[in-house]
Amino acid sequence: MRILVYPGSFDPVTNGHLDIIERAAKICDKLIVAVLVNRNKAPVFSIEERVALLKEVLDGKPNIEIAAFSGLLVDFMKKKGANTIIKGLRAVSDFEYEFQMALLNKHLDNNIETLFMMTGINYSYLSSSAVRELASHGGNIKGLVPDIIIDRIYKKFEENRK
Ligand code: COA
Repeated sequence: MRILVYPGSFDPVTNGHLDIIERAAKICDKLIVAVLVNRNKAPVFSIEERVALLKEVLDGKPNIEIAAFSGLLVDFMKKKGANTIIKGLRAVSDFEYEFQMALLNKHLDNNIETLFMMTGINYSYLSSSAVRELASHGGNIKGLVPDIIIDRIYKKFEENRK
């Protein structure tokens, strides 16, 4: 069975992530969306919230699993019996960082392969921090994240302002 693992912080999930998720799910038997619990910077959305947003957006997609992980990605993959990472490349600027990550993961576990998919052209400028920045100032995020989670994102920033 061909399993692909799509890791990220998803703080929050954007239409750019969804573009990769939907296309990647077509070329494997199972896609595991792996949500990092802790990142260097404290996330705005808790791990439970980030997983819940993904679950809502991906509801009913049969070959997609959403799982939280902490620690090293390669250790999580071993537990899941997976050896292939899929990542999106938005622009040349992503390359250097992704190249380093791919080589570090290979250094940690020689069985791990990283595949790259070009992010849809409409999303090449998009990032979770851009969504957070816009939403925190009440800016328009329609078209950047799935419609069904827009209100939840604004609400989170309203709560944070209180
Ligand atoms: N569409 C829109 N945005 C995208 C995107 C896409 N297709 N692909 C990436 N992005 C955004 C992300 O949302 C993120 O936005 P932000 O920084 O503004 O919040 C940014 O681009 C960087 O993405 P990425 O490089 O995937 O970082 P990440 O923080 O989402 O995920 C992990 C990083 C989880 C993959 C990585 O830190 C990891 O594997 N950590 C575990 C520890 C480990 O094993 N390290 C590796 C060996 S040292």
